[in-house]
Amino acid sequence: MAITALKYTVQEKALILGIESSCDETAASVLAREADGSFEVLSSIIASQDEEHAPFGGVVPEIAARAHMQKLDLIIERAISQADVDYAELSAIAATSGPGLIGGVIAGLMGAKGLSMSLDIPLIAVNHLEGHALSPKLAGECAFPYLLLLISGGHTQLLSVKGLGDYERIGSTVDDAAGEAFDKSAKVMGLGFPGGPRVERSAQAGNPQAIKLPRPFKGKDHANFSFAGLKTAVARAYEASDKSDQAKADLCASFQEAVCDVFKDRTQRAMKIFRADVGEGSQRFVVAGGVAANKKIRGALNQLCEDNNFTLLAPPLKYCTDNAAMIALAGAEHYARGNFDTLDVKARPRWPLDGNSAKHNPASGFGKKGPKS
Ligand code: KG4
Ligand code: ZN
Repeated sequence: MAITALKYTVQEKALILGIESSCDETAASVLAREADGSFEVLSSIIASQDEEHAPFGGVVPEIAARAHMQKLDLIIERAISQADVDYAELSAIAATSGPGLIGGVIAGLMGAKGLSMSLDIPLIAVNHLEGHALSPKLAGECAFPYLLLLISGGHTQLLSVKGLGDYERIGSTVDDAAGEAFDKSAKVMGLGFPGGPRVERSAQAGNPQAIKLPRPFKGKDHANFSFAGLKTAVARAYEASDKSDQAKADLCASFQEAVCDVFKDRTQRAMKIFRADVGEGSQRFVVAGGVAANKKIRGALNQLCEDNNFTLLAPPLKYCTDNAAMIALAGAEHYARGNFDTLDVKARPRWPLDGNSAKHNPASGFGKKGPKS
């Protein structure tokens, strides 16, 4: 059978089904794109696997893959019915094809290929990170270019986003992602899984100045991050504490404060680099990814933006963590440009958003350690 995407033409108005399965959320969404480029999210269904992974204190890839296999059909069905559309009305299927846990990515991508074939509509392989990068557009107008801080369980990167497919990395983590530092810190303190929201909750009752923690790379003449040392410092501080609820709250608040400090310092450095490239004057700054759901971090970044003549834009909380609306949106943008994939497109465990610029900036590597490598 010839595997071709060339036979399809682009319709001005389109209905895109997005599928997300790269980590521990099985998600599907239907998005309607109008001829003028405006769009509406008609449905966004997310099935979390928190319960499945909680006993292990982290995402177990094999369990994740099985759960995606079991839930995907139902989640797609719900997205279609909540959007009140028919399968026959769909214009294209957009699915996360990496980076992520390979078993889960394969589950979603195979489902998408099956639908694309049976409905005879184009398949669009979406980079999960591009979904996060475009996610502020789900909240409203967000014109290119913008400086993006992408902070999730698998990634911590500062990118210059100049257009669809035009991403340049300014900095990234040299070891752990920020979300991983939250998750591991929560695990050490026995706060449960997923760690980020639990650390944020516990920190509300704590004193952010109580425990002295390192601020890795603060003041350095680049925009990279490091979280491994901070993570270890949290573990040591917890061991030395009386392990009471108050001790945990103080440690969570101090950890969150250290992360905020690091984000402010590194982002300010990146703002200078971004400005030197795109020009002076008011600019846009976007924070996206699961860790962007943290209110303290948003507040700190908002202050930084006010002080540096940047406007902060962020996706609504429900679109910070993994979801399929952002995948449908990225898919819709590619659909409008006729960027279709063939059925032999592969699932990719690693897929840097900025393939070329990462090569030019090897110091920041591919910025990827953690569950979604
Ligand atoms: O974007 P996401 O859902 O998945 C990845 O692409 O990795 O991000 C998940 C990460 C987890 O590490 C989770 O602990 C963290 O986002 N997270 C948070 C909060 N909510 C989720 N971290 C800090 N504060 C939060 N409120
Ligand atoms: Zn993500």
